[in-house]
Amino acid sequence: MIRPILKMGTPSLMQASLPLPSSAFNSPELHALIADMQETMIAAKGAGLAAPQIGENIRVVIFEIKNNPRYPDAEPVPFTVLINPELLPISDEQDDGWEGCLSVPAMRGLVPRLKALRYTGFDAAGQKIDRTVSGWHARVVQHECDHLDGVLYPMRMTDMSQFGFTEVLFPELVGQDDD
Ligand code: NI
Repeated sequence: MIRPILKMGTPSLMQASLPLPSSAFNSPELHALIADMQETMIAAKGAGLAAPQIGENIRVVIFEIKNNPRYPDAEPVPFTVLINPELLPISDEQDDGWEGCLSVPAMRGLVPRLKALRYTGFDAAGQKIDRTVSGWHARVVQHECDHLDGVLYPMRMTDMSQFGFTEVLFPELVGQDDD
């Protein structure tokens, strides 16, 4: 079921989310939540979605980049369900990149992120995930996991002159999403 996406200003988006209890792995409720998240993300042409964006304050994110018209230059990232994630920096090298967010519709901002990192967590069945990634994959993981701590990308920006409307900054992307 496609669920409404909460927008910036909604208090629950600014709250830290709770870990998924181990008893909830592989449960019908978890699979239903993930199915809703995936449908909602695809319908909005998002690259990722965090459970709090549909009003569920638990530590579950999904992401995938595959010919995404919102992010035409991003390299592919496999569809991933990541639960109770931990991000482990492997160097402090950062990179600036343009981000959007389904909770901040019609806007883009230039956001500094770690260039590379290791992340761990679990899939829906409770199997351990442990990956070392860089580039777009690293950026999308940092963006989505920030949602679990109540952080939206504008809160990570260091130069607010690099924040604006998609139609002004990237007119070629207008109409590629429902923002
Ligand atoms: Ni977002």
